Amino acid sequence: MSSDLNLFSPIQLGAYTLPNRIVMAPLTRNRASEGNVPTELNAIYYAQRASAGLLISEATQVTPYGQGYPATPGIHSREQITGWKLVTDAVHARGGRIFLQLWHVGRISHPSLQPGGVLPVAPSAIAPEAGEATTYEGPKPYVTPRALETDELPGIIEAYRQGAENALTAGFDGVEIHGANGYLLDQFLRDGTNQRTDAYGGSVEKRARLLLEVTEAVVGMCGANRVGVRLSPSSTFNSMTDSDPEATFGYAVDALNRFGLAYLHLLEPSEADERHGGILVPTSYFRPIFKGLLMVNWDYDRDKANAAIADGAADLVSFGKLFIANPDLPERFQANTSLNEPDPSTFYGGDEKGYTDYPALELQAS
Ligand SMILES: Cc1cc2nc3c(=O)[nH]c(=O)nc-3n(C[C@H](O)[C@H](O)[C@H](O)COP(=O)(O)O)c2cc1C
Repeated sequence: MSSDLNLFSPIQLGAYTLPNRIVMAPLTRNRASEGNVPTELNAIYYAQRASAGLLISEATQVTPYGQGYPATPGIHSREQITGWKLVTDAVHARGGRIFLQLWHVGRISHPSLQPGGVLPVAPSAIAPEAGEATTYEGPKPYVTPRALETDELPGIIEAYRQGAENALTAGFDGVEIHGANGYLLDQFLRDGTNQRTDAYGGSVEKRARLLLEVTEAVVGMCGANRVGVRLSPSSTFNSMTDSDPEATFGYAVDALNRFGLAYLHLLEPSEADERHGGILVPTSYFRPIFKGLLMVNWDYDRDKANAAIADGAADLVSFGKLFIANPDLPERFQANTSLNEPDPSTFYGGDEKGYTDYPALELQAS
């Protein structure tokens, strides 16, 4: 059933009325300063993109033990809160809204990134099969992580809650819980990485428990109308597998209904997931299960996104690479004009090159 809704139809998302349904996807850019503190340069980057209906920040570790890559920002120190305030003030000055993505990488880390050089933590002591850790000294083989003890999990939940509190202190309009892409919460959800025998492993209900308890704590802090959750049911990134993603994520998505979240953010299966032999579950499978707003992502362009919204397949669409290269993506979509090409060599780390120097469209005065 087609409607006349499109990317430019305003929408009420939780506590906020968005002028459009174009969302900037969370994008790690590895440009925080020493101490993983956001800077004025980061503020310029986000403010340039403030015409999006909603900005979602790059993934941001809630504890130093949750860091998995160089120069990713945190939200656990006073300096980081002050640094993020530069970003939120700049976005608000341009009339935008920004949520912070709360992150713990779990096993996707390396002792050289951990305080005291300790092992990264995970649901179970299972190393990622493929790939290498990204460290300050370059790529290094993954180590086998340490399985978290059951009595450590309240501390993990508290780190997310404190991260959410710090995000509000820093002026964020809300938070997105990163439950996607093979990081800690996803590692608990899927049976390829979770082989626990306590109350947080085994059945689907037990594997989803940490995600749900983190969500409960974060919702308790921010209010459900300022919280979103991101999940990637089909993703094989970071060596993730699940024997029955329809059952695992069907349960998790249905269980999230109880909170009345601002939105659920789902990634579509990708070509890489297919190549890696993943079990592919399109976001359409979850549409009837989730009772709130659905934001979809992966390889959308203007026409595909407009069609998804008109057909009711999604309420909002987030864009990643297109937002890296086009600070004024909504204006370009509206004018239906050409787009800048993203340069992958400057995605992760560096300075303003490939970050704040993509040109905005100069509309010709008529
Ligand atoms: C440079 C880069 C950094 C990314 N960082 C994050 C991140 O911090 N958190 C996250 O959930 N996804 C991250 N992603 C995934 C994107 O949010 C998005 O899912 C992906 O780019 C597909 O959307 P697109 O086809 O519109 O680019 C990243 C992707 C790229 C290319």
